[in-house]
Amino acid sequence: MLHPRILVAKTADEAGVLAANEFEAVIAKKPAAVIGLATGSTPLPLYRELIAREKAGKIDFSKVRSANLDEYKGLAPTHEQSYRKFMQDNLLDHISIKPENTIVPLGQAEDIQKMCEEYEAKIEEWGGVDCQLLGIGHDGHIGFNEPEDHFPAMTHEVQLTEMTIDANKRFFESIDDVPRAAITMGIGTIMAARKIVMIVTGADKKEILKKTFWGPVDPQVPASILQFHPDVTLICDEAAYPFN
Ligand code: GLP
Repeated sequence: MLHPRILVAKTADEAGVLAANEFEAVIAKKPAAVIGLATGSTPLPLYRELIAREKAGKIDFSKVRSANLDEYKGLAPTHEQSYRKFMQDNLLDHISIKPENTIVPLGQAEDIQKMCEEYEAKIEEWGGVDCQLLGIGHDGHIGFNEPEDHFPAMTHEVQLTEMTIDANKRFFESIDDVPRAAITMGIGTIMAARKIVMIVTGADKKEILKKTFWGPVDPQVPASILQFHPDVTLICDEAAYPFN
């Protein structure tokens, strides 16, 4: 088993700053880097910091390519709660990245299987993901790879668990509005990234964080597969760090 490089920040905001350092370094080394992006509340401090750093002239996103982890099935890209809209509002509209250099799975694709294959092909055409950002769900999901009896390899459609639907209802008017399915990069897609930066903040994530890196590798805790990745930087705040 491999252990991640661990950075413990005082606060969630500081975790965002530390994560921005990782992305800044990747893009400085490779201006056309392919970065894997994530949604949820955890990456927001990072995205604010990245926007500020480009404004300050420290990062240049004009050649960067981005691929998002996942999208709700059935939501239009313009839907208030779609992940495409989340990315536009919280990062992409505020940096110099070219719209054609950003991809998010299409929630409304008619042929989901075909769209998933094209998504994988695009990432491959770009030369693979240089640095993949991850958050984590309370059940250990990454992207929308929910606990299962195996680790799904490629981008695919998933049925969301009750726990995930419940956790994400805060973004919708009612729990009935939360889509029951999503499209997500597979565990194999994520593991193929050359470098992974996982941010975990808040006391409510402490238990799952411990299971992820200090428990057995088990598809019932999808993120535990990261123990097999050679370049994981785990950035957590003091509240989430399991050994305080
Ligand atoms: C969703 C996303 C995940 C994210 C998770 C945690 O399920 N698909 O990529 O990591 O939420 O979200 P939060 O950071 O808001 O706790």
